Amino acid sequence: MERKGTRMDSFMELALRRQSCRKYTGQPVDTEQLKACVEAARQAPSACNGQPWRFLIVNGGETAKALARCAQGQGMNKTIATSPAFIVVCQAKSNLSSRAGGLLKGQDYASVDIGLAAAHLCFEAADQGLGTCLLGWFDEKPVKKLLGIPRGQRVRLLVAVGHPENPRVHRKQRKPFEEICRVIDYRV
Ligand SMILES: Cc1cc2nc3c(=O)[nH]c(=O)nc-3n(C[C@H](O)[C@H](O)[C@H](O)COP(=O)(O)O)c2cc1C
Repeated sequence: MERKGTRMDSFMELALRRQSCRKYTGQPVDTEQLKACVEAARQAPSACNGQPWRFLIVNGGETAKALARCAQGQGMNKTIATSPAFIVVCQAKSNLSSRAGGLLKGQDYASVDIGLAAAHLCFEAADQGLGTCLLGWFDEKPVKKLLGIPRGQRVRLLVAVGHPENPRVHRKQRKPFEEICRVIDYRV
């Protein structure tokens, strides 16, 4: 798998550089680059190593255009049709221990697993200089029909991938650290 693009010297830099890209240039993306993104996602941790994720790479063609339309219901995701490629993230059945653990503890481990895999995917894309946008707003039924996704799987995310039209890194809008983190430190 070919990995292109810039290499970051720290993870924090990469985390700051990754941002949702909603407009892409017309430049196509190498399928090898998309495969490298899925390879990074494959390395993500998951509850009981259940790996409930499945991925589908759609690079170009009418299928990519049709996928974009599936994400544009109710006037949403207007510019996403500029994306030359999509990685579809599906959820398959996890292993027994993960499912049993989730039931016993009242936790949705599979969603956590899918989110982690999607994060890996987006960071790898950013590391290659590609833009991504996670899309949770899409019509699942037509996506499943279009791609022949088996009944037992759910489509959890579409990830638009392409070359950003505007590569400028935006200032992140995030809640203050103190609002989202409580520190219990007995060493002070
Ligand atoms: C589960 C999930 C679903 C999302 N769905 C959409 C979407 O349908 N359309 C969109 O433009 N952005 C979507 N986003 C992107 C968020 O809006 C974005 O990550 C957030 O505003 C923070 O901005 P940043 O990614 O540039 O840091 C989604 C993100 C997540 C994690």
